[in-house]
Amino acid sequence: MDRELTLELVRVTEVAALAASQWMGRGRKNEADEAATNAMRAMFDTVAINGTVVIGEGEMDEAPMLYIGEKVGSALSPEVDVAVDPLEGTNILAKGLPNALSVVAIADRGNLLHAPDIYMQKIAVGPRAAGKIHIDDPIEKTLEIVAKANDKRISECTVMILDRPRHQEIIEAVRKAGARVRLIGDGDVGSAIYTAIPETGVDLCLGIGGAPEGVIAAAALKCLGGEMQARLWPEDDEDRARCAKMGITDCSRILYMDDMVKGDDAIFAATGVTDGELLKGVRMLGGDMAETHSLVMRYRNKTIRWIRAVHRLSYKASMVFGSGNKPAL
Ligand code: FBP
Repeated sequence: MDRELTLELVRVTEVAALAASQWMGRGRKNEADEAATNAMRAMFDTVAINGTVVIGEGEMDEAPMLYIGEKVGSALSPEVDVAVDPLEGTNILAKGLPNALSVVAIADRGNLLHAPDIYMQKIAVGPRAAGKIHIDDPIEKTLEIVAKANDKRISECTVMILDRPRHQEIIEAVRKAGARVRLIGDGDVGSAIYTAIPETGVDLCLGIGGAPEGVIAAAALKCLGGEMQARLWPEDDEDRARCAKMGITDCSRILYMDDMVKGDDAIFAATGVTDGELLKGVRMLGGDMAETHSLVMRYRNKTIRWIRAVHRLSYKASMVFGSGNKPAL
């Protein structure tokens, strides 16, 4: 993959974030998701890749755009796998809450796990604890390892967990072991990334979330030197059939970094939609201008770029505002 692709990918998440932000706080998550998806799809047409969506908005019969198997990009090479979440945190965007993101990851063809849209059990840590944890270790042991690696007491460690009834036991176990819990309403791609960014104060991310989000977070953590381990979490026979359709016969298998993101290269880009710890959200500056904040990184050269951009919306109006449904202004 050419190094220029890192900057090309930021253009893709920027435009999706700009489009989604038009719906911020309007209580209409489907419209926001659709706007982000349309914008991202349109921008992909200008990126010189021969991409196949492996993590997308759904399977072909359920998503009109950026569906699994869809071809994106304007060139015959490089052939890449593409993982997208045009709007990660549809509910939080609809409510105007923090930490909605637009995210994309790419890797050479065949190198991203083709994960169905089912649940996945995940554990994520930053670089200092990478290589030391195991998904099946008891929580007390994991916290000891993470605290030691991050040079903290267990009582100083923060564990981020999606606030769901299914996590009650884990939450109690973490509290009992003496660590602090930060519950989040949505958005576990961001929380996995936080573990690799010491300023966020997050040491560990645990719990069951979406499998597509898991693969995208694994790509980000690969670039940051962190680690995620995971296990698909089918809820019924239909979920198991979806796994089988994607070639996964043993759903109980532990998925390590190389199972989710293989190879010696991967690029990850994210743009903030609403304000968050990782990235500021889209800011309307007035007079046709809007500001975005993005993070883009590449596994091969380990560079992490934080990019602030000011956009003239009239120059990309068809992508940002689309031709269909618009917010009632
Ligand atoms: P969406 O952006 O698709 O709404 O996903 C948000 C999210 O919170 C993910 O970050 C997370 O992996 C998943 O939903 C958790 O699913 P559920 O809300 O069903 O617990």
